[in-house]
Amino acid sequence: MTTGFERDRDEFARGARAIVVLPDQGNSSRDADARLEETAGLAMAIGVVVAEKIAYRVRQPKPATLIGSGQVEALAAQVRMEDAQLVVIDGALTPVQQRNLETALECKVIDRTGLILEIFGERAATAEGRLQVELAHLDYQAGRLVRSWTHLERQRGGFGFLGGPGETQIEADRRLIRDRMARLRKELDQVSRTRGLHRDRRQRAPWPVIALVGYTNAGKSTLFNRLTGADVMAEDLLFATLDPTLRQIQLPGIDKAILSDTVGFVSELPTQLVAAFKATLEEVVSADLLIHVRDIAHPDSEAQRADVEAVLHEIGVADTTPRFEAWNKIDLLEGDARTDALVEASRRDDVVAISAMSGEGVEELKREVAAKLTAGHRRYSITLDAADGAGAAWLHQHGEVLEQEIDDDRATYDVRMAPRDYERFLQR
Ligand code: GTP
Repeated sequence: MTTGFERDRDEFARGARAIVVLPDQGNSSRDADARLEETAGLAMAIGVVVAEKIAYRVRQPKPATLIGSGQVEALAAQVRMEDAQLVVIDGALTPVQQRNLETALECKVIDRTGLILEIFGERAATAEGRLQVELAHLDYQAGRLVRSWTHLERQRGGFGFLGGPGETQIEADRRLIRDRMARLRKELDQVSRTRGLHRDRRQRAPWPVIALVGYTNAGKSTLFNRLTGADVMAEDLLFATLDPTLRQIQLPGIDKAILSDTVGFVSELPTQLVAAFKATLEEVVSADLLIHVRDIAHPDSEAQRADVEAVLHEIGVADTTPRFEAWNKIDLLEGDARTDALVEASRRDDVVAISAMSGEGVEELKREVAAKLTAGHRRYSITLDAADGAGAAWLHQHGEVLEQEIDDDRATYDVRMAPRDYERFLQR
């Protein structure tokens, strides 16, 4: 069976005109404009054209339509005027609200969860990511299989995308979907077991793992590229990175570390999707150190920080995992704002102000990260057989060789390394 999900991917209609609506219930600490901007960014991430952004003040959410009836009318007029095929509601809609709005507006309506699911569906690159997104998608759709969409789609010439139940799907009975979900779960099990094996193998590798985390668009990929010389897609495109990207890097005094670029977080991340990024997030949970990349020039920088911390907590990152905050995009701040940020950053030993774009502060970040990783390292004097090339290589790989003295049959090394590595060396 092809699910609507797969079908939708093929028929994905780029260039649809959309209106982005923020139902502002007055209970958010966030700036409404920034929020609309973010959602428009999310919508653009699936290739639609944002024709208009509107915030509606919603004093009392309506069970039938969320926004008030006058607002629905105004919005319908706007939809006609802009010739929009899609309305994105930046909030959570019940299936009933979604259906009623579609009928009233005569166009597709999706909510924030639906939108994020679309993006994740487009971006997921690993088998596991795809399976997880499909599962989350089916779960989300199961409650939204309604007939009214069919004729709507026929009337409008059909936009098969956006997870709306297209004809095949309407006809597909729910049991098929349930069966499909069960099969997906089984496949996923298999995939994650295999991944577990790979991870174990890597886990035994002795290099420290550093994970970049941060709100979407904070600049993780840009920093990743700067630190590794890699060419990961860095775009003004939300969620450009969905699957973990791992690269080797060198830091002062550390021969080899692994840097992992991870999924960007976003507020109100649908819970089904937290599971979808287990692969990425597991890198984060088991990392030796986290670099939390923050867009320090964003008006909601503080709220974004809280969102990220909340997700980290939710996925089980220990509070004891050492972490840095990289206050990124410092180049965008001017005058007092810039001075304040720099002063505050230098006052705190877990913060480095940087510009991943220009490179400002990046060397300092590397030094600090290296120092944090090697804190607790000690100096050991180790004598080896001069012919023990493998032993010498091991020491160079795992420690910082400060001095070495080699004569005919013996080699003595003065090495700084973690006590744990020293133990391992003695056992080899
Ligand atoms: P997601 O994939 O959505 O999680 O984003 P990300 O955190 O990986 O962000 P990315 O590196 O893709 O950067 C997002 C945008 O911010 C891009 O347009 C970058 O060019 C821009 N950007 C990143 N770092 C800086 C910076 O230091 N200064 C400025 N001015 N822009 C930056």
